[in-house]
Amino acid sequence: MNYSIVSGNNDDVTNVCALARQCLPEAWSERSLRSSLAAGFDLLLAVKNDTLSGYLLSSHVLDEIHIMQLVVAPQHRRQGIASSLLQALVTSSAGMNSLQLEVRASNIAARRFYHKADFVVCGHRKNYYTTGSLQATEDAILMQRLLQTDNHERNNHE
Ligand SMILES: CC(C)(COP(=O)(O)OP(=O)(O)OC[C@H]1O[C@@H](n2cnc3c(N)ncnc32)[C@H](O)[C@@H]1OP(=O)(O)O)[C@@H](O)C(=O)NCCC(=O)NCCS
Repeated sequence: MNYSIVSGNNDDVTNVCALARQCLPEAWSERSLRSSLAAGFDLLLAVKNDTLSGYLLSSHVLDEIHIMQLVVAPQHRRQGIASSLLQALVTSSAGMNSLQLEVRASNIAARRFYHKADFVVCGHRKNYYTTGSLQATEDAILMQRLLQTDNHERNNHE
């Protein structure tokens, strides 16, 4: 692995938003991301040769963690970077019950990624996203991964 997974903060917002604009249909503004970090969202970064190659933004409510954004730069995909970001989140989530997320129905790459990472479909939200023009909508697929098994398995190996 020739990249590092580190915690991010306000100093990383400009680079994170630049990567988001490259990769997501609806990137957050720098102001929204700064407000989210101030409100307690967690940011993990994958850094390769001093360059941001991916990030994972998450929030937590009680014992549920919500993955808000998981992004890897196109030139760094299929090298296990998203898997490493997710594993770092799981490792830092002892005592939490589950990971949750919404993904666009058309986002086959992300759905395959999450399926491989042991997430299961747990619901749908009809017309959750707008796409292109304001009239067009797209469903969200809700996915979840229970963490207690992860923590239990880790405890058994300690
Ligand atoms: C989804 C995304 C984060 C995956 O990042 P990544 O670093 O390439 O993922 P990994 O290398 O860790 O992939 C792990 C596994 O997920 C699956 N996977 C990842 N990308 C895939 C793709 N495009 N097609 C099919 N399966 C894929 C594969 O099983 C892969 O294992 P393999 O490479 O050994 O076959 C990346 O494609 C991305 O940034 N997409 C744009 C942003 C986005 O849609 N984010 C999700 C919603 S917020």
